[in-house]
Amino acid sequence: MSFSETAHSAAAFAGRRAGPVAIAYPNMALVKYWGKRDESLVLPVTGSLSMTLDIFPTTTRVTLRPRAAVDAVTLNGRDASPQTRMRVERFLDLVRDKAGRSERARVETNNTIPTGAGLASSASGFAALAAAAAKAYGIESDARALSRLARRGSGSACRSIFGGFVTWHAGTGFGAAGDASSYAEPSRYAVDAALVIAIVDSGPKALPSRTAMRLSMTSSPFYLPWAAATRTDLEQVQAALAAGDLVRAGGIAEHNALGMHAVLLASQPSIRYLAPQSLRILDRVDRLRAAGIPAYATIDAGPNVAVLCARHHAARVMVALRELDDPVSIRIARPGPGVTVTGGDEP
Ligand code: DP6
Repeated sequence: MSFSETAHSAAAFAGRRAGPVAIAYPNMALVKYWGKRDESLVLPVTGSLSMTLDIFPTTTRVTLRPRAAVDAVTLNGRDASPQTRMRVERFLDLVRDKAGRSERARVETNNTIPTGAGLASSASGFAALAAAAAKAYGIESDARALSRLARRGSGSACRSIFGGFVTWHAGTGFGAAGDASSYAEPSRYAVDAALVIAIVDSGPKALPSRTAMRLSMTSSPFYLPWAAATRTDLEQVQAALAAGDLVRAGGIAEHNALGMHAVLLASQPSIRYLAPQSLRILDRVDRLRAAGIPAYATIDAGPNVAVLCARHHAARVMVALRELDDPVSIRIARPGPGVTVTGGDEP
């Protein structure tokens, strides 16, 4: 059943107007967020920087159900798993708390990105949920406040509130001060960038990133050095992008991502998201560079690889990745828009 059909039948069943719909896009970090200084407020150890994509949107409708005792959550037209429902409910509790309201809600989400495959579905998912739920419950929030709210659902979601290149400021301190100072902010850079995304495996990942993050922070001897280097990486990527230097930004981004995977590999027990195909793609990217095509890989908590390059090189990069024997699906992404919300206004 399509999103519009489920939304339509839900509204008809409830005999009420359907709630607001938000559309958000995933983002791919060039400087990674990995590690929290506060778990419950989702305050990161370091700042991070990403590009919001123009593909794989998540569409979420939140409709209030004043007579219901529980929240209802569907994902791509089916009841969500108990874990997903709990995570959504916890987030809605936070929104209800802020709004001083208690109604339950129906949440209908359609993801066009493979869910849980290390392709940032939680980023677009919680960005869309935050925007739709804030509207449904009548929370007045500007984009910065919305990014702080989305952060509570999933850290990387705060960056998907904005389009293009986005920095998530780590902020300082804990409690209310930490919460207020940790938000995302977009930057306009004069670079014509593309990300060529190779989906190696769209199945759910073995270990959720939240668990892996916790485990690697506490058990990997490389975590603290990586976090220290990431602070410098962030400043240098921002400076390189501001100077229009995609090559320099790409080199730092690749190093930052591989450093994160080194942290993971050195955790106890070891966490290995990279697949043989991921490594073959890294080899291919090396060969592209040797052939004079500036292309740089980044990999989130999964086996899929995103290759940063100039827009005019994207088709060439895609062809190179297609030449590999492995059956990977490849998409070219460009900088995409921030979250949008429609509908849900009181009659
Ligand atoms: C590797 O935002 O999914 O994609 O805050 O625990 O929900 P939680 O984690 P999440 O982690 C994303 C990690 C990453 C890097 C990044 O997007 O910066």
